[in-house]
Amino acid sequence: MAHEEFKIIGVVGAGQMGSGIAQVAAMKGFQVHVLDVAQGSLDKGLAAVEKSLSRLVKKEKLSEAEKMKALQNLKWGTEAQSLFADADVVIEAATENLNLKLEIFKNLDQVCPEKTILCSNTSSISITKLASATSRPEKFCGMHFMNPVPIMKLVEGISGLQTSKETFERLKSFAENLGKVFVEAQDQPGFVVNRILMPMINEAVFALYEGLASAEDIDKAMILGTNQPMGPLALADFIGLDTCLSIMEVLHEGFADSKYRPCPLLKKYVEAGWLGRKVKKGFYSYE
Ligand code: CAA
Repeated sequence: MAHEEFKIIGVVGAGQMGSGIAQVAAMKGFQVHVLDVAQGSLDKGLAAVEKSLSRLVKKEKLSEAEKMKALQNLKWGTEAQSLFADADVVIEAATENLNLKLEIFKNLDQVCPEKTILCSNTSSISITKLASATSRPEKFCGMHFMNPVPIMKLVEGISGLQTSKETFERLKSFAENLGKVFVEAQDQPGFVVNRILMPMINEAVFALYEGLASAEDIDKAMILGTNQPMGPLALADFIGLDTCLSIMEVLHEGFADSKYRPCPLLKKYVEAGWLGRKVKKGFYSYE
């Protein structure tokens, strides 16, 4: 059943996170309009959604008819103006880059009607700062989904300095309608999950850098020793090493504390373009 208040959900960015958010909302009966700059990115997004839905059908968690309905609820395009003209909420899930996001929100503020709530799926950037690019900071909130979005239950909800209580409560209820659990986090670098997860991943990279153990053994030790579903280095590849590095940089700069310094090996891998699973090479090879 779709949320009684929201009908049209906009998503900016058809990458891993954007397509996952779009999929979950479409599965719950919302009309979802997805924007990206290039048709190629939209095609990739649609292919990822189809693959994930087929996986859920195969596991008998979804019927073929429900899969088709979800696909019909999705509209993909490159024109913000037409896609978001009647959107109730727009969730931005573009690359983790402050200037890019500020530019996107400046534009969204202009093309979206007054009623539209603007959200960012940023994993670490200040919500207060992003809201400042708009003329509606009271209708602006952080909504941080976890990857893979269809599987992970958590959404972090982050109020900026000017987010209204009403906006936050409406998004909390929307997240619950998506079948997610909304945990409130303060608007500090990394919020809750990345404040704790990224230093662990960074420490695993230091362990590898210093020759403490092999990548396989570091991951094996953490899986078997702490019951995590995947080891920290495999998880870094899954998230994307560029994303991990940019979150560490936000923590390092935001807290001005050397305990958050990114490991030189993480920087080197990103410089080499070894960004993890998405390019089939990170701490592991995925050929
Ligand atoms: N779509 C649909 N179903 C999916 C899926 C997807 N994208 N990915 C996995 N699944 C399903 C599988 O079909 C499978 O279903 P069953 O349980 O019914 O068999 C189930 O999820 C488990 O998948 P697999 O058997 O293929 O593999 P797995 O058991 O190794 O699980 C995983 C994969 C769910 C990714 C698991 O390894 C995991 O939970 N890893 C940790 C993920 C994590 O920590 N995410 C948070 C990252 S941090 C973040 O996102 C925030 C940030 O800002 C960086």
